Amino acid sequence: MSLTPIGEPRHKVTTATLRDQKLHHEPITCLTAYDYASARLVDEAGIDMVLVGDSLAQTMLGYENTLSVTMDEMLHHVKAVRRGVKNALLGADMPYGSYQLDSKTAVSNAARFVKEGGAEVVKIEGGEKRADLIRQIIDAEIPVAGHIGLTPQSVNVMGGYKVQGKSLSGIEQLMRDAVALDRAGVACLYLEGIPREVAAMITGEISAPTIGIGAGPECDGQVLVFHDILNLTFGPPAKFVRRYGDAAALITNAVQAFRADVRSHQYPADEESYHLPKETKTGLDTVLARKRAMGR
Ligand code: KIV
Repeated sequence: MSLTPIGEPRHKVTTATLRDQKLHHEPITCLTAYDYASARLVDEAGIDMVLVGDSLAQTMLGYENTLSVTMDEMLHHVKAVRRGVKNALLGADMPYGSYQLDSKTAVSNAARFVKEGGAEVVKIEGGEKRADLIRQIIDAEIPVAGHIGLTPQSVNVMGGYKVQGKSLSGIEQLMRDAVALDRAGVACLYLEGIPREVAAMITGEISAPTIGIGAGPECDGQVLVFHDILNLTFGPPAKFVRRYGDAAALITNAVQAFRADVRSHQYPADEESYHLPKETKTGLDTVLARKRAMGR
């Protein structure tokens, strides 16, 4: 195992690194990030892959689901994250409507993420029916991450956010999807919301690294949403979410303390204020004293 100790200088992570990690059973770590500050923190903490997920529709923009977010909105965030990420592999989610309509538009949107946003991988939801499109995007020299199982862009077709692959036919479909995308050449495959046993079978069957979210511990790596692990989502978390911090409490306490300090004249203090240079102050005092003496 070649785990880089926390705090050690790191090398640039590439799609080849992910494959290497699968080969050597070194778990791949992935988190979402949506802006410069979170991207820097995630990258500097040593995470292997940073994903600008279309989950930003909800976490950053307050939409109800991921269907409304546009290419331009995604690009705006990908560019900000690019400026914060140095070593991690940078992935960008193709939003709903940017690749489902026709393959020419899909390839050109994927190229925008690379050219304008600096993304190194683009992620596409869907199984075997996306295999041809994925080949075309790879032909344009753009690495692709697949995403199967509970695919949030299909929420209306699935009839809600439901765990997939619970029946024998569902398992067979997921296996067909995984194998088709592996053959198409995906750089990695995200497995979302599927039983642990099914994710383990897929992980053992395909050569591409699997990155799970709600897919159990046998995946080659794990991804979580930045806002989920920090309690910034304003609702009950999904079963698979583990909270690693309470940023909501931290932010609320800081904001309330600022408000209280301003209202009680505790902020700003003298040492938090700028002062005039000594000579200017003496001159000003003289002018004010003269005005006072003249009764003005
Ligand atoms: O949009 C997203 O954040 C995602 C992952 C968490 C896989 O697609």
